[in-house]
Amino acid sequence: MANYLVTGGAGFIGSNLTNFLAKENHVVAVDDLSMGKMENLDSSANIEFIKGSITDVSLMRNLLKEKEFDYIFHLAAIASVADSVENPIRTHQVNFDAVFHLLELTKKHQKMLKRFVFSSSAAVYGDEKTLPKQEESVIRPLTPYAIDKFAAEKFVLMYNNLYEVPTSVVRFFNVYGPKQNSSSPYSGVISIMMECFDKLKGNLDAEFTLFGDGQQSRDFVFVEDVIQALLLVAGNSATLGDVYNLGIGQATTLLELIRIIENHLGIKLPIIYKEARFGDIKESFADISKLQAIGYKPKNTVSEGMKKYIEYLQKEYE
Ligand code: UD1
Repeated sequence: MANYLVTGGAGFIGSNLTNFLAKENHVVAVDDLSMGKMENLDSSANIEFIKGSITDVSLMRNLLKEKEFDYIFHLAAIASVADSVENPIRTHQVNFDAVFHLLELTKKHQKMLKRFVFSSSAAVYGDEKTLPKQEESVIRPLTPYAIDKFAAEKFVLMYNNLYEVPTSVVRFFNVYGPKQNSSSPYSGVISIMMECFDKLKGNLDAEFTLFGDGQQSRDFVFVEDVIQALLLVAGNSATLGDVYNLGIGQATTLLELIRIIENHLGIKLPIIYKEARFGDIKESFADISKLQAIGYKPKNTVSEGMKKYIEYLQKEYE
């Protein structure tokens, strides 16, 4: 049994990771439940849940002083880019300052740590046009969210290089799957679409607002593949001090995505077209060859991942 710390452990990706790890390991999940939910976590004796914010330095200090972790996955963040634009100082405290403190605490107290994995975002590439995005592509962060993620990445890697804290960074592309929160208009597009389909199945009215012409594309990666990649990165000595794109390496347009879901469900999605969102990126997909070189094989095409996600939602509502 290894000891894991997962910050943001009750959130979308964090809870999927925590539940997976807890089958064979002990996991401390820290979450302030601002976006995450207790119900996301399995009831398992191997999960120790701590309700608290990563910005609470004394909470985090006590935790890192008292316990010895083998692995730390830092997934807690304010994930909404729109929030970061509205409230840059508050989001900076969570998305940057708290990471910095956690690195210092890790350096001081976690002498047995095998890996600290930081979750960054494809947002760091901004609107730079080269495709696919390579880890060494031009970085053009355009929002407080993206700047904080990039600055935090740099500190995370610097702690490996200068202080021998074993760290790695992954840049998530568009992750989807069970437990994704769909409550905000800035939630991931797939979770928003699934809410619409759910209403339609219940014979309620629902329309999906498509911003732009639907030809914009994204690299949609199923959360199971994200877990696979996180564990690969954490367990491989070659990934120390390095950064990895995490997608499936394929672009899917929104119209293709809608067709895939409509085919699985046999329901047509009513669409209202609106102006493209300001600053919306037209195309994005990842070059994943670096991750593939350490054994990553995404197991789910968008169609396969969507099939599993739909099956999960159907069970939930039964
Ligand atoms: C995602 C991230 C964002 C990050 C960016 C960087 C999420 C939720 N957002 O944004 O934090 O900065 O990657 O690459 O993961 N759309 C609609 N209707 C809707 C919602 C969205 O048409 O109701 C469109 C959007 O305008 C966009 C596409 O769907 O063109 C995908 O949107 P979204 O899921 O928010 O992802 P990104 O824009 O890629």
